[in-house]
Amino acid sequence: MGTQQLNLNPTEQSASGSYRLQVCAVIDETADARSLVFDVPESLRERFRYKPGQFLSFRVPCAGKLLTRCYSMASSPVCDARPKVTIKRVDGGRVSNWMNQQVQVGDWLEVLPPAGHFHLDERQADNERPLVLFGGGSGITPVFSILKSSLQTSARPIKLIYANRDEASVIFRDELRQLAKANPERLEVVHILDSVQGFLTDAQVRQLVRGHSAGDYFICGPGPFMDTVESTLLALGEAAVRIHVERFVSPPDPDEVLAQEALARAAAADSACEALIVELDGQRHEIACRPGDTLLQSCKAAGLEVPFSCEEGFCGACMCTIQEGETQLARNDVLSAKELAEGWTLACQSRPTGARVRLKFPD
Ligand SMILES: Cc1cc2nc3c(=O)[nH]c(=O)nc-3n(C[C@H](O)[C@H](O)[C@H](O)COP(=O)(O)OP(=O)(O)OC[C@H]3O[C@@H](n4cnc5c(N)ncnc54)[C@H](O)[C@@H]3O)c2cc1C
Ligand code: FES
Repeated sequence: MGTQQLNLNPTEQSASGSYRLQVCAVIDETADARSLVFDVPESLRERFRYKPGQFLSFRVPCAGKLLTRCYSMASSPVCDARPKVTIKRVDGGRVSNWMNQQVQVGDWLEVLPPAGHFHLDERQADNERPLVLFGGGSGITPVFSILKSSLQTSARPIKLIYANRDEASVIFRDELRQLAKANPERLEVVHILDSVQGFLTDAQVRQLVRGHSAGDYFICGPGPFMDTVESTLLALGEAAVRIHVERFVSPPDPDEVLAQEALARAAAADSACEALIVELDGQRHEIACRPGDTLLQSCKAAGLEVPFSCEEGFCGACMCTIQEGETQLARNDVLSAKELAEGWTLACQSRPTGARVRLKFPD
């Protein structure tokens, strides 16, 4: 693996939309998790402005392939001067181990701008609903950013339920202790350790959220942990629209992605979409659609600045709803059956199959 193969000026954008950022600090958080802090030059500040809970996508050269991996920002845009990502090592994982073992201060990494929908709704910044955060292992990162930001910008009561294997693997333990001490009326942190209490159960979730009903819920962690929390909240009658889930997955390798892309493109080659209508930031655009192109490719070709990041169907940055017409979704590692039923799709993986398609990106 190498640190950087792009020959770009720091402020220059690559053909794939990435930039170069320099690592200005490396922090060992635990024995198997490390944070990287980045310098963002003045000219890129606007491009790298982020919301608490969003992530950066990195493109890392590895054995002749360019692997894309997302890492959520653990920093807060309102409290921290620079963006920080925290990476936990995965057994046999290529990028997470490289980030933990090899990356040093001064290295340049290839990074795509912030993206993702796992963040607080800024239009409701003044609401007073309880904020209930569930973080499991490395899933603490986006949740920590939301927690720190909300403490600063709102008066909401906040409860964090944070699950880990054992005490030694608790990332941000000291920072959390300090925050809880400084905000005793507003912040409650509950640690759950597999080594002591075992895995989180639905009975525990019910007990932990008692007194915090009708809140906003943010959940990020291992699959079974998130499933337990989400299904319990739904069973308790909490509104699905206020339950937010972020799934940490790796995409398949680029050769597999390319093979899948070729198959999906060929399958859609005969479709004759005559009108693609895109609703974006309150504006309506009618654009051309080449047979076989994804919704995202058509939007980009038309010069529309729609949200996207990985372009491989695993980060969710390009989520949009189909308002009219038929489309076919290829890869999807993000959307649940319920979201699909509600009309959500991934613009980077979806191709029109009918003559007219109208899609809308969230505001
Ligand atoms: C939106 C989002 C945000 C995320 N935020 C964070 C975060 O803040 N912190 C964090 O730590 N993680 C985060 N992740 C997860 C992260 O992006 C990676 O998935 C994770 O670090 C593992 O990547 P890796 O390259 O180390 O593992 P991979 O190399 O992808 O390996 C994953 C698994 O597959 C096996 N494997 C190894 N080689 C291969 C191979 N050649 N082919 C197939 N499988 C192989 C490995 O043994 C391992 O079990 C996030 C993911 C998403 C989608
Ligand atoms: S851009 Fe990542 S899923 Fe579409």
